[in-house]
Amino acid sequence: MCGIVGYVGTQQAAPILLEGLSRLEYRGYDSAGVCVEQNGVLKVEKAKGRLQNLIAKTENGALLPGTLGIGHTRWATHGEPNDTNSHPHVSQNGKIAVVHNGIIENYLELREFLQQKGVQFASQTDTEVVAQLMEYCMGLPEVETVSDALYMVLHRIEGAYALGILCSDDPDHVYAARKDAPLLIGFGEGENFIASDVTALVKYTRDVVYMDDGEVAVLGRDGVQVYNAMELPIEKEHHHIDWEISAAEKGGYEHFMLKEIMEEPEALRRAILPRIKDGAVVFDGLMLDSSCYDCIKIIACGSSYHVGMVGKYNLEKLTRMPVEVILASEFRYCSPIVNERTLAIIISQSGETLDTMAALREAKSLGARILSIVNVVGSSIARESDDVLYTWAGPEIAVATTKAYSTQMAVLDLLAVYLAAQRNTISAEEANRLTAAIAALPAQVEQILSSREQIQYYASQYFNHDSVFFIGRNLDYALGMEGSLKLKEISYIHSEAYASGELKHGTISLIEPGTLVIALGTYGPLFDKAMSNVIEVKARGASVLALTTENRREALSSRVDGILTIPETELPLLPLLGVVPLQLFAYYVALQRGCDIDKPRNLAKSVPAGVFYGSTRFRLPGRIRFSLRMLSECGMMKKTEKGVFL
Ligand code: M6R
Repeated sequence: MCGIVGYVGTQQAAPILLEGLSRLEYRGYDSAGVCVEQNGVLKVEKAKGRLQNLIAKTENGALLPGTLGIGHTRWATHGEPNDTNSHPHVSQNGKIAVVHNGIIENYLELREFLQQKGVQFASQTDTEVVAQLMEYCMGLPEVETVSDALYMVLHRIEGAYALGILCSDDPDHVYAARKDAPLLIGFGEGENFIASDVTALVKYTRDVVYMDDGEVAVLGRDGVQVYNAMELPIEKEHHHIDWEISAAEKGGYEHFMLKEIMEEPEALRRAILPRIKDGAVVFDGLMLDSSCYDCIKIIACGSSYHVGMVGKYNLEKLTRMPVEVILASEFRYCSPIVNERTLAIIISQSGETLDTMAALREAKSLGARILSIVNVVGSSIARESDDVLYTWAGPEIAVATTKAYSTQMAVLDLLAVYLAAQRNTISAEEANRLTAAIAALPAQVEQILSSREQIQYYASQYFNHDSVFFIGRNLDYALGMEGSLKLKEISYIHSEAYASGELKHGTISLIEPGTLVIALGTYGPLFDKAMSNVIEVKARGASVLALTTENRREALSSRVDGILTIPETELPLLPLLGVVPLQLFAYYVALQRGCDIDKPRNLAKSVPAGVFYGSTRFRLPGRIRFSLRMLSECGMMKKTEKGVFL
């Protein structure tokens, strides 16, 4: 996913932009670029591949003097990753530079329109249309300011965007606009910033404002003004970032992923302990009367969806409410049965995942109450939810989620106990027991981490397998889904997870001598059944690495090739402990295979704006109504079957 940084101040902009971009590398990208204003001229440098190439090319920014600039890491969508298609894009006369996250959906139509006006395009990107359209609008007789032109452009483009814009005719300001793609403003002393992610700014400021859809910001050295879609100045709530920059650095670890796994006990403490008072679960500020809801829909993508799978088992068992877990990417297309008696639980680390956001809006429009479990404070999903339970895991940089997954699950476990106690579907004694067991989880995760050498040993035994199957039943099946995803995403080993009972319905034909099967047998009530599946695959020559609880080690030892164990805990909490060895196993396997662990190929940390969702346009800004006539005259008015509209 692309990253944006912008700076206006008194320091040299380029080194700050490059530093900010380096903090956004984890989001995934394939080229990078910066633009700095110098004596009324916009100077651009770009480089394909790693940011380091751009740093070398600009001598860490020294070759680009100037105190106003924008930078970008690009994840190619329209046009291959190369220097031409990288951002910033500059308009034909060189006076406008644009960085953009998202997709301009109607770019072909606008490109054609501009080409008819004689504009020559340098790249194949949708973003260049924004730069060229800005230049075109700046040239219209009735446009007086950069803001006028910007609103006109925003009014005409369709799709999703976070934009950072420079205009050499206005060398004291950075312009920013947002719709369906994250963008925030950082406030400093005599300097101000924009970024798509707070990690890019936290070295310079902790005072931030999150932009909302339809807003435009004009950043100068002495201040920032934010405007709404009606072009009216507005006051925004400031947020203080309270985590340290070290939280977004490797801190001596070889990879962010390992660091973040090692941070799980601390992250879990932050997620759990403030929510337990006098032995009971409390969610400050949450006014949720579960008797108002007939069912729960859990909606999420990827690992967050796997948390939801565990949540389904636990919430149904404890609260006796029907729970459906739905992939966010499917939600809009499956005619979901949702109404005002539906509680929708949205799970997302980033709080920006496009499909999850779209599903949230769909569920909301159908009347559901939206409760989100989110890590990134102030993210779009958090802001559009009726209630938010933050996971407080701290910044997660590695693409493969680890501590965010564990804390999401801890919060969902707490919620299950909270709702069950509210509904009297568990006894007070059971609620107390579960709550105490949740409070004990951080220390138990510490215990698992302390024996990671054993997991590393098994990784060294099995790292060269081409294909791995995770099997398990009930909670172990949900756990296997996450173990399998972790392994495949960072080690590139083909891996699949099956409910063990499904093996005999087809998959067992793939088991042959030497196939690695990771048998998950942590869930006591189904341990014997798990054993019978182990026997089945062993009989066909599979190598079996088992995961179980400590007191079952003996029962397994003679039947499998390797055993990993986790401490005993209450049944619903087993996946939270079980995932830790699987995360470590995936990490060490990928390490053995020499993979780019923190930035696996083809993957981005967050998957926001890619295709459009929601309403396509701004409402017409009041102060530029004149643009109606002008747009019509210059052929930029859009015509539809129902007439002309903006
Ligand atoms: O930020 P989100 O939780 O909404 O992201 C959802 C998935 O993209 C994410 O969980 C992904 O599957 C993980 N990076 C896998 O480790």
